[in-house]
Amino acid sequence: MDRIRLRGGHALSGEIVISGAKNAALPLMTAGMLTDERLVLSRVPLLADTETMGQLLAQHGVAVERSANDPRTLSIGGAITNTEAPYDIVRKMRASVLVLGPLLARVREARVSLPGGCAIGTRPVDLHLKGLEQMGAVITLDGGYIDAKAPHGLKGATIVFPMPSVGATENLLMAASLADGRTLLANAAREPEITDLCDCLVAMGAKISGIGTDKLTIDGVASLHGAHHEVIPDRIETGTYACAAAITGGSLHLVGGRLDHLGAVVRTLAEAGVEITPTETGLMVKRLNGLHGVDAITEPYPGFPTDMQAQYMVLMSVAEGASLVTETIFENRFMHVPELNRMGARINVHGKSAIVRGVASLSGAPVMATDLRASVSLVLAGLAAKGETIVNRVYHLDRGFETVETKLAACGADIERIAG
Ligand code: UD1
Repeated sequence: MDRIRLRGGHALSGEIVISGAKNAALPLMTAGMLTDERLVLSRVPLLADTETMGQLLAQHGVAVERSANDPRTLSIGGAITNTEAPYDIVRKMRASVLVLGPLLARVREARVSLPGGCAIGTRPVDLHLKGLEQMGAVITLDGGYIDAKAPHGLKGATIVFPMPSVGATENLLMAASLADGRTLLANAAREPEITDLCDCLVAMGAKISGIGTDKLTIDGVASLHGAHHEVIPDRIETGTYACAAAITGGSLHLVGGRLDHLGAVVRTLAEAGVEITPTETGLMVKRLNGLHGVDAITEPYPGFPTDMQAQYMVLMSVAEGASLVTETIFENRFMHVPELNRMGARINVHGKSAIVRGVASLSGAPVMATDLRASVSLVLAGLAAKGETIVNRVYHLDRGFETVETKLAACGADIERIAG
């Protein structure tokens, strides 16, 4: 298993090109199942998760071809020949459940393994299933699988989510695009990745209004056609490298980074002493003077993203004063805390909140990555720490961050991957 070795204490400076957003690319790839024509997606990040999604689409009979000139451009299309999403693939990546809506809409049946628990909490899919049932699907749970059928096709419905769910909004958007009649999704999630999916669906011929808001109206059409769509830059990667610049006292130009996608991150980092300014091609990030402790609470977009919580906590670990970091989206998402404390951080968890008391510096240690965002937070901690840090189990990192070590090394970090 690969490891990452790093020695901290180097102020980063230079340019990092932000990759396409993993969380936009995954649903966009499943949108390719909604038509027999070709959906061409560019800026698809080269990651374990997009690879897994390619395997899942292939399993359904849908071809995913990589452009010979650009490995980040995929051409997706073909008839669906198999409606089963097997446990072996779904257990690797929860976002596999996003084939459910497209399968039901296109071929009126789907058998998708239940994702089950994962390291960051129970993460149910009840909102996906209830919404599809409201659209006329008959769903049974059998042997760990979701068995869904819509023998008469899906019908438009009014669906009011009790809480915003990114995945449920995406699944139902895709299902509704080919349903009979009008669907209203209220209290829908409005993350930039959802807007990106809407934009792509519209380019494919879908009729959607209210894009970017929490009320989406979809008028179903008989068929969708091929299109070309470019995946948005990854806002979580952008925020993560902003923290990297701040934590090392350096400055980074994040090419492709978008201020309008960062939501509460910009304000929170500004209060903490980190300046983010737009440039012609991206964002310039630098630490002003010292870092100050500032509270953060995770919320649906445009609130502070749960996917930035671990990275932000590392920043707060070396800030002056204390801060309260509260996680409201997922239970059990503080698994990075014991590892950070082993590196000298002073963090106490009380239920959904963590009190972070800033320390003068962290010290390097061997640490264990537990999930995707936690693993990148350990890399950030290593950048800030005195001495050597070894991050084990970096396969978590490879699920969601393109070539972290290459991008950081090019900006002056002492970091390398050790194969093994
Ligand atoms: C997506 C992101 C993930 C991010 C999360 C929240 C992808 C591939 N993943 O995950 O990186 O951390 O949004 O921004 O885009 N819930 C239910 N029932 C459901 C669905 C969700 O109770 O049927 C709950 C979840 O347990 C959680 C909350 O709703 O507490 C939000 O989850 P959701 O927005 O659905 O997250 P994902 O789409 O799984």
